[in-house]
Amino acid sequence: MKSLTLLAPLLLCVTLLCSSLNVASDSAAAALAILKWKASLQSQNHSVLLSWNTSNNPNTKTSPCAWFGIHCNHADSVTKINLTGYGVKGTLHLFPFLSLPNLAELDLSTNELYGIIPPKISQLSKLTYLDLSFNQISGQIPPEISHLVHRQTLHLAGNQLNGSIPREIGQLKFLTDLALCSNKLNGCIPASLGKLSPLVSLFLYNNSLSGPIPPELGNLRNLVEVYLDTNRLTGPITSTFGNLKKLTVLQMFNNSLSGPIPFELGNMESLSEISLYHNNLSGLIPTSFGGLRLLTLAHLYENQLSGPIPEEIGNLNSLVDLELSENQLNGSIPASLGNLSNLEILFLRDNRLSGSIPNEIGNLMKYLSENEFYGEVSSNWGLCKSLEILSISRNNLSGTILLELGLMSTLLYLDLSANQLSKSFPETIGNLSMSFYLNLSINQFSQNIPIQVGKLTRLFHLDLSHNMLSGEIPGELQSLQSLETLNLSHNNLSGEIPASFEHLRGLYTVDISYNELQGPIPNSQAFLNASVQELRGNKALCGNASGLPPCTPFF
Ligand SMILES: *[C@@H]1O[C@H](CO)[C@@H](O)[C@H](O)[C@H]1NC(C)=O
Ligand SMILES: *[C@@H]1O[C@H](CO)[C@@H](O)[C@H](O)[C@H]1NC(C)=O
Ligand SMILES: *[C@@H]1O[C@H](CO)[C@@H](O)[C@H](O)[C@H]1NC(C)=O
Ligand SMILES: *[C@@H]1O[C@H](CO)[C@@H](O)[C@H](O)[C@H]1NC(C)=O
Ligand SMILES: *[C@@H]1O[C@H](CO)[C@@H](O)[C@H](O)[C@H]1NC(C)=O
Ligand SMILES: *[C@@H]1O[C@H](CO)[C@@H](O)[C@H](O)[C@H]1NC(C)=O
Ligand SMILES: *[C@@H]1O[C@H](CO)[C@@H](O)[C@H](O)[C@H]1NC(C)=O
Ligand SMILES: *[C@@H]1O[C@H](CO)[C@@H](O)[C@H](O)[C@H]1NC(C)=O
Ligand SMILES: *[C@@H]1O[C@H](CO)[C@@H](O)[C@H](O)[C@H]1NC(C)=O
Ligand SMILES: *[C@@H]1O[C@H](CO)[C@@H](O)[C@H](O)[C@H]1NC(C)=O
Ligand SMILES: *[C@@H]1O[C@H](CO)[C@@H](O)[C@H](O)[C@H]1NC(C)=O
Ligand SMILES: *[C@@H]1O[C@H](CO)[C@@H](O)[C@H](O)[C@H]1NC(C)=O
Repeated sequence: MKSLTLLAPLLLCVTLLCSSLNVASDSAAAALAILKWKASLQSQNHSVLLSWNTSNNPNTKTSPCAWFGIHCNHADSVTKINLTGYGVKGTLHLFPFLSLPNLAELDLSTNELYGIIPPKISQLSKLTYLDLSFNQISGQIPPEISHLVHRQTLHLAGNQLNGSIPREIGQLKFLTDLALCSNKLNGCIPASLGKLSPLVSLFLYNNSLSGPIPPELGNLRNLVEVYLDTNRLTGPITSTFGNLKKLTVLQMFNNSLSGPIPFELGNMESLSEISLYHNNLSGLIPTSFGGLRLLTLAHLYENQLSGPIPEEIGNLNSLVDLELSENQLNGSIPASLGNLSNLEILFLRDNRLSGSIPNEIGNLMKYLSENEFYGEVSSNWGLCKSLEILSISRNNLSGTILLELGLMSTLLYLDLSANQLSKSFPETIGNLSMSFYLNLSINQFSQNIPIQVGKLTRLFHLDLSHNMLSGEIPGELQSLQSLETLNLSHNNLSGEIPASFEHLRGLYTVDISYNELQGPIPNSQAFLNASVQELRGNKALCGNASGLPPCTPFF
């Protein structure tokens, strides 16, 4: 009995000694294993790896804990290696997977690693964070990666990984962040991803993934961001996405998705950005979209969507960027769009919209003085949102350009080309003083070009071609000192071209063909270098340009 009580502290002592010896030898073994990997790297002489040596502390056992990028716990066991962005060049073949039993975080992103991900990686049983993004790692994602059950973050983005996403990833039941984007992955998105219930972000974009979007993704109720764009996904958008109440970003553009946009998407109450452009989606834009009160960006262009623009879109008070171009939308532009007080970009081009431009569109602008517009960013700058880009070209709009539209002093880009708009331009057009692009071509505008166009001194491109404009070209256009391209072709303009146009120094391309113009062309490079095609079809132009007779007072 006595001997036992004496023995107890001794035993304890021995145990402690042994365990600290073990730690020391673990750490020495780890150091040697790490040095072995270092020796395999082409970049071993890189300055950041200089501290990875055995010569620094001759009196103690070699420990990697003081080495650059290596972190240990209080027991001197390596818990984290972070070498992100230090030009590490080599493979992972000799990485000490077996010697780092407590490694929890491994960040080797943005280096020059190549070769495969060794299946041995599954030996890092404590790993919660793995980032190998932005290297040149190739081959397949080893299914063994799923043995790392504690994994929360798996970032393999920006490599050359091919093959399919292993279905076993569905076993990583603590995973919150999965980024496999910008690789060469093919095959389907495994339905097993639907088991990753803690998943917050899913980045699979820019691969060659094909097949349908598994409805099981709708089970991932913690999802905040989903990026599936730029793949070869087909089939419908799953209506189960309607369950994703925390989702803020849904990017599925540049695939071959077809079928309708599910009504249920209107339930994604946190949604801020939805981008479905360049797919083959058809049917109506669901009226339920009117419920997406936090939506700032909706890109639905380049699809086969038909029917009207739902009036409910006017409820989306946060909307900044609405792009519905290149669909088959018909009916008239809903007046409710005038309620989108934060809207900056409205693209509706290439649809079948008809009717006139609603007066309410004029509400989408704010008066700002030039100083305010170009002034310093002030604390209330964010409140000063207003329409900057408006494109409704290539539709079937009729009626006139409204007075209100002419007043949109913050507009930078206005394209109403290829519609059935008629009558004269309103004089208020001179208020579009910030615009750099104005395209009113291919309509039925008539009467004179208003002298107020001369106030648009920031214009780079002015296209009024293919209308029925008449009268003389106003001399005021000489104020358009920023102008690079001017197209007045296919109108009924008459008289002489103002000689003052020779002062339009930036003018690079002109087309004045098919009018009733006569007399000398202005003495500027744009006119002198104009082609026959850009000058022909007039009454009697003359000058030193191809196809024109010289101007001579004797005839
Ligand atoms: C690293 O430097 C050592 C000594 O300067 C040299 O012997 C070795 O070849 C170098 N290794 C590489 C991969 O450049
Ligand atoms: C070894 O690492 C220490 C820093 O830990 C450094 O001061 C020393 O120069 C290194 N030795 C060699 C030979 O690179
Ligand atoms: C690694 O270090 C970089 C800064 O050098 C840091 O941004 C990154 O979050 C670190 N990674 C981990 C897993 O701690
Ligand atoms: C993956 O790429 C490697 C070359 O890096 C190639 O040998 C292999 O056949 C490819 N595998 C698949 C499934 O595409
Ligand atoms: C897409 O991925 C490739 C690598 O597979 C990369 O080179 C390219 O920059 C990526 N593109 C985008 C837009 O991220
Ligand atoms: C769409 O994806 C293809 C590859 O599938 C790529 O080449 C192209 O740049 C992408 N386009 C856009 C707009 O992202
Ligand atoms: C849409 O479908 C048509 C016809 O099936 C096809 O030609 C086109 O490439 C598809 N577009 C996209 C973006 O998938
Ligand atoms: C819009 O197009 C659909 C067919 O896609 C047609 O049934 C409907 O009458 C059209 N509506 C208008 C206002 O032109
Ligand atoms: C615009 O919003 C106001 C209230 O915010 C509402 O009364 C009006 O009906 C809306 N207009 C349209 C055209 O939807
Ligand atoms: C355009 O609208 C006019 C009526 O304003 C109508 O007669 C014509 O059929 C429409 N064209 C197309 C292509 O929808
Ligand atoms: C104006 O619009 C027409 C038709 O949409 C287009 O063909 C033309 O290139 C545009 N002009 C300029 C200067 O962009
Ligand atoms: C808008 O244009 C009209 C007509 O040219 C002019 O009287 C008015 O002062 C302009 N308003 C602003 C705010 O520039």
